[in-house]
Amino acid sequence: MTIYLDNAATSHPKPEAIYRAADRTLRELGASPGRGSYRAAIEASRLLFETRLAAARLFGVADAARIVFTASATEALNLALFGLLNPGDRVVTTSMEHNAVLRPLELLRRRGVEIVKVAAGTDGFVEPADLKAACAHRPRLLVLSHCSNVTGTRQAIEELGPWCRKQGILTLVDGAQSAGLFDLDVEAMTIDLLAVPGHKGLFGPPGTGLLYVREELQIRPLLVGGTGGDSTSPLPAPQLPEGLESGTANSSGLAGLKAGIEFLLATGLDTIRRHELNLVRRLRQELPQIPGLRLHGAGAMDRQGTALSFTIDGHDPAAIAFLLDRDHAIHTRAGLHCAPDAHRTIGTFPQGTVRVSPGWFNNEQHIEHLLTALGELTNSHRG
Ligand SMILES: Cc1ncc(COP(=O)(O)O)c(C=O)c1O
Repeated sequence: MTIYLDNAATSHPKPEAIYRAADRTLRELGASPGRGSYRAAIEASRLLFETRLAAARLFGVADAARIVFTASATEALNLALFGLLNPGDRVVTTSMEHNAVLRPLELLRRRGVEIVKVAAGTDGFVEPADLKAACAHRPRLLVLSHCSNVTGTRQAIEELGPWCRKQGILTLVDGAQSAGLFDLDVEAMTIDLLAVPGHKGLFGPPGTGLLYVREELQIRPLLVGGTGGDSTSPLPAPQLPEGLESGTANSSGLAGLKAGIEFLLATGLDTIRRHELNLVRRLRQELPQIPGLRLHGAGAMDRQGTALSFTIDGHDPAAIAFLLDRDHAIHTRAGLHCAPDAHRTIGTFPQGTVRVSPGWFNNEQHIEHLLTALGELTNSHRG
């Protein structure tokens, strides 16, 4: 038996309906959505439309056309950042961001966009007051992750979103680690742009993701080309979603994503969250009992998502992850997790941490195995 505890990277396994939907679409549908008027092409278009509707329902979006499909959260974040920002703009962000935010911002900084980074505490939490103070000079955009992929820390979007709207500051939320776990209602939280992977908490296949763009907000496309609609203009379509979705759609992936969102809606986010956070709570209690083990960035439980980071004194994180895999078939991830600033913040740069991220298909027994394995591993190395 292998025990997969790397759901922060991608969720695995997926509920059965996802495999069936993707397989059926690839085998039987055989048509490109929006690219023909024969029956299968219309069915493929309907499938995309229904996926958009399901996503709109999950994120409280009134007009499903404001959901743009992408290949990943990375693409959604790049689309939002490069599509929105111009030289001279100011952006406020945090020290807990993933490279999918940090690297586009660094390229934009070299093109004349001013970036202000607000430091989190060692618990990974960025005080809303500090972010508000950094916004005193009226940035164009506040961009931050809802939950950290290193510590799981959940930022106070529910407070920051409405505040930014009042100040006329746009918000881009990286929902990579919270979509499918915490409520992300773009209306209630007043989020202008929301980037989400399809393949993590929404249970879709890899190669799926989306960007929500608030009504009336115009952003430039990252890619231009065929959209299947009006082909006469030399320019991309002005309307969404076509204007930001050039090229043949990933219909089998999106069929899987639709099934994933339907699974989430039928199961209930509350049920999923209760289950996953129970496992995380147990880990937070038990891991520190292992001699030399330190949890990093584990702040208030009511601000905790599903990623947890730890180190063990005298052990290289990469060696721990290697031994867990080789000797116990337990899959965790070691290193910086594409978030170097987050490790500088919590004091684990450059060696990084071992990250454990339970998901819907994990259970108490898996956690027990991990704890036993870590106990054995530290004992045998001490002896
Ligand atoms: C916080 C955060 N943002 C962005 C990403 C990028 O997501 P994707 O793998 O869908 O490109 C990840 C993936 O690990 C993440 O954890």
